[in-house]
Amino acid sequence: MKNQTLTKTSIKHQPSGQFEETRFEKIHNIVFANSVNGSICVAQEIADLIKSKQVKNELCILGLATGSSPIKVYEELVRMHNEEGLSFKNVVTFNLDEYYPMDKSSVHSYYYFMHQHLFNHIDIDPENINIPSGTISTEELHQYCIDYDLKIKEYGGLDFQLLGIGRTGHIGFNEPGSHYNSGTRSITLDHLTRVDAATSFLGIDKVPKKAITMGIGTVKKAKRIILLAWGHNKASIVKKTIEGDITPDVPASYLQEHNNVTFILNDEASQELTRIKTPWLVGPCIWSDQLISKAIVWLCDLTKKSILKLTDKDYNDNGMSSLLVQEGSAYDINIKMFNKLQHTITGWPGGKPDADDSSRPERANPHKKRVLIFSPHPDDDVISMGGTFDRLVEQGHEVHIAYQTSGNIAVSDHEALKYAEVIKDMTPNDAEIDLVIKGLNSKKGDIEDVIEVRKLKGLIRKRESFAATRFLGVPDKNVHFLNLPFYETGTIKKNPISKVDIDIVADLISETKPHQIYAAGDLADPHGTHKVCLDAIFAALEKLKPNGYMDDCWVWLYRGAWHEWDIDQIDMAVPMSPDQVLRKRRAIFYHQSQKDGVMFQGNDTREFWVRAEERNNETAVKYHQLGLADYAALEAFKRYYY
Ligand code: F6R
Repeated sequence: MKNQTLTKTSIKHQPSGQFEETRFEKIHNIVFANSVNGSICVAQEIADLIKSKQVKNELCILGLATGSSPIKVYEELVRMHNEEGLSFKNVVTFNLDEYYPMDKSSVHSYYYFMHQHLFNHIDIDPENINIPSGTISTEELHQYCIDYDLKIKEYGGLDFQLLGIGRTGHIGFNEPGSHYNSGTRSITLDHLTRVDAATSFLGIDKVPKKAITMGIGTVKKAKRIILLAWGHNKASIVKKTIEGDITPDVPASYLQEHNNVTFILNDEASQELTRIKTPWLVGPCIWSDQLISKAIVWLCDLTKKSILKLTDKDYNDNGMSSLLVQEGSAYDINIKMFNKLQHTITGWPGGKPDADDSSRPERANPHKKRVLIFSPHPDDDVISMGGTFDRLVEQGHEVHIAYQTSGNIAVSDHEALKYAEVIKDMTPNDAEIDLVIKGLNSKKGDIEDVIEVRKLKGLIRKRESFAATRFLGVPDKNVHFLNLPFYETGTIKKNPISKVDIDIVADLISETKPHQIYAAGDLADPHGTHKVCLDAIFAALEKLKPNGYMDDCWVWLYRGAWHEWDIDQIDMAVPMSPDQVLRKRRAIFYHQSQKDGVMFQGNDTREFWVRAEERNNETAVKYHQLGLADYAALEAFKRYYY
């Protein structure tokens, strides 16, 4: 059952691997359209459990997780407490893990996390909260862990365990190699886990190397287990866990042996499951145009053939005979697919004047379009669509750029100090710059910057942006810095999107009245700035839709620095010559504060310009392998219909 807001009873565990559509799967799982719907259902199940225990005058023993995955479940539980009177008086909690060593008061501690997201907002008795202590001495640690398990046992075991999953396949911090009957213990964190935590710790060096975690054995004894996984970057480990063999290399795979576990996924996290990625291998499917494209790209990859070389046998041998029945012969399907892909390619992203546009991605008219490019951070425009941006300006369109956030937290302190000292040398009596220098020099640890420092960091990014937009030929008056308020917290954690953010975006659209909008379509990123920026645009489009001028506005989504559209999702592919690739590189280079060991590198060690070039080249290579022309690079876009 896919893409639905399921009712509370429908997330009940069912045996998996017994039916045609799940025969590859060994763990019951439900896919939701988004993480909010999924989280609400999970919170409802927890609330029902708490209430059923209340009726019987019993304690409800919950095992809880931290990390980004359960945040919305906790939000919903807090809402139920505030608005529906859900009480936690009969609840006892045991958290899965804590970094070691780690002080309770640190913003990085799981103690802090749990209080910030849940415990401070509900009526749980503080005595009933159990979180492994990150300050226990090494001598006491062994016994402490044994006692943690014993305490759970004394309460009669966990009634319910909430889990997330790490990209290593860890549950709790049971990293690869963990034994299936392990108890609570101290462990060494996997490098990948530390890389994933590096952003919130502001650098991998600051991520602790060890942790205390409940064991696999402890978790597996829970009467009911729900594991949450959201987002594209969980898709591959989710597939290994659900479909692969039970192995210590993927500790979460031990859950295959539990008889009451459900994985709650969103669309992106489910993408690698066989029944979703290649449904034709599982059973009969409805061949939509989108599915046909997806299947053909997959078949070409599997057979190492270009589209026009695929034969009836290739289709038949690989679960696609029903497509042959529907569409005729391989020859017919191949030609249709080849033309479809061919028609995505255009050197005229703003439409080709005076040309037949019936099979082009963009309209020919009006010849000169007003174009509004939204860039979540001040460099996403050039990183993700620098070549297309360049062509749009060169082809005479009125191009506007809107930088949605200041991007100030991504400027390092030493970069800011360099600028501050130059300003100080030029204007020794400037009181504000004294505050900046003082703020930077007295900063200890990863506390948030004082307002003057944030201002300077934002200005550095602003000036870098102007350098790039001027290089590409955009007049300064067409460059808009929106400084959306949701971003301005001075820390990684941002405020929720508000009406003010949406209005700022909507006002710019209604002032500009664009024929084309470009936006970063990182739909897979569940919490990040790109997703919030996109939500602000979608909300603004919804608001402006009744205005007549919006009928003439097409929206194109590019992908940010992190990943690219799949070939079958691409509606417009803009080629770049080797020279244009170099121009794009230069435009990215103007964003100097984001070069050479940047603060928010993510889990990809390549610099942004390298990622962009390699990705655009990969798209070009894929098109070529499918039998289309051989370009140096292609930028890809998907049209968004609102
Ligand atoms: C947290 C925990 C971890 C996380 C996992 C996923 O208490 O034990 O196993 O659940 O690392 O983290 P997120 O949810 O941040 O992707």
